[in-house]
Amino acid sequence: MTMRSARIIGTGSHLPERSLTNAELARQLDTTDEWIRSRTGIAERRIAAPGELTSDLAVKAAEQALSQAGITAESLDFILVATTTPDLVFPSTATIVQRKLGAGRFLMPACDIQAVCAGFIYALSLADSLIRSGSARRILVIGAETMSRVVDWQDRSTCILFGDGAGAVVVEGSPEPGQGILSTHLHADGSYEALLRTDGGISHGLLVDPTSGRGLAQMRGNEVFKQAVKALEGLVDETLAANGLDKSQIDWLVPHQANIRIIHSTAKRLGLPMERVVMTVDRHGNTSAASVPLALDEAVRDGRIQPGHLLLLEAFGAGFTWGSALIRW
Ligand code: ACO
Repeated sequence: MTMRSARIIGTGSHLPERSLTNAELARQLDTTDEWIRSRTGIAERRIAAPGELTSDLAVKAAEQALSQAGITAESLDFILVATTTPDLVFPSTATIVQRKLGAGRFLMPACDIQAVCAGFIYALSLADSLIRSGSARRILVIGAETMSRVVDWQDRSTCILFGDGAGAVVVEGSPEPGQGILSTHLHADGSYEALLRTDGGISHGLLVDPTSGRGLAQMRGNEVFKQAVKALEGLVDETLAANGLDKSQIDWLVPHQANIRIIHSTAKRLGLPMERVVMTVDRHGNTSAASVPLALDEAVRDGRIQPGHLLLLEAFGAGFTWGSALIRW
């Protein structure tokens, strides 16, 4: 049977137990709760325990998504994990997740996608294409990160922003057109690498070294902020135009949770009141590829998102990479 659209049939998420508040950060760094809240909207973020890996968070989120979908891992055709903070250089976190889900013997393909904060949207777009091309029927898409492990905890301008967590969705083909994922739009511009990057990596012969500070995240936040606002404005217009829709038809904005001021500007572009924006940045901080599926799962589980609603998911991150997905729930 030809699958003419791809629908999300289950969502899940998981956060580490440990919460790190602004007040705690202010005891270690020259910062204040007031500064962090007013510039970013963040009040606290979750931090993975020693030994708690990206794959551990991913598996817990995946189990919830599978359970909500009412399926088991053996019926999956593909596992995609969007992450910037994989457990190992190789094998991929996706194959580790497959093993931990007890699905290794079912031999479905599994691989990672690396597009930093836009990674989940990239992976969702790929899943949509695989399903509509007939290559797969049911795909587990996860965004999972332990950003706390690549953050320089001495750098007050970056460490306050990030948190750890995971979100997951199960995407399934449907023979009916016009359901589920209506369109996805992806972009990248590698010329902005210097504004947001880690200071080292494998082919530089350098792994993350928190002691020397090498290999950790570096950001020119103000310049990233301006580019993010501009790129997201263009993305919103592009997504609406491609679907012949007016902004008044969007029910929910499910944005990447980097900074409340960036989210405000996208909501303003859409003419959406903040009650129609799913916000988790205050409690999660920026969880990179995990932030969109974490926010989506929260709003699905608390009943804000209902069948028939029109959702705009969007994200912007290092690279730069950015993307959107328009979904009829
Ligand atoms: N506490 C107190 N003061 C601080 C802190 C802090 N935690 N951090 C920076 N400052 C100071 C700076 O030193 C500077 O001081 P100065 O004026 O004396 O030089 C002042 O605050 C202003 O600094 P800016 O960097 O201009 O502050 P800004 O208002 O731009 O806020 C922030 C910084 C929050 C990082 C913001 O620029 C931002 O959120 N940028 C976007 C980040 C983002 O979206 N990243 C996206 C993707 S992340 C990914 O892909 C992995």
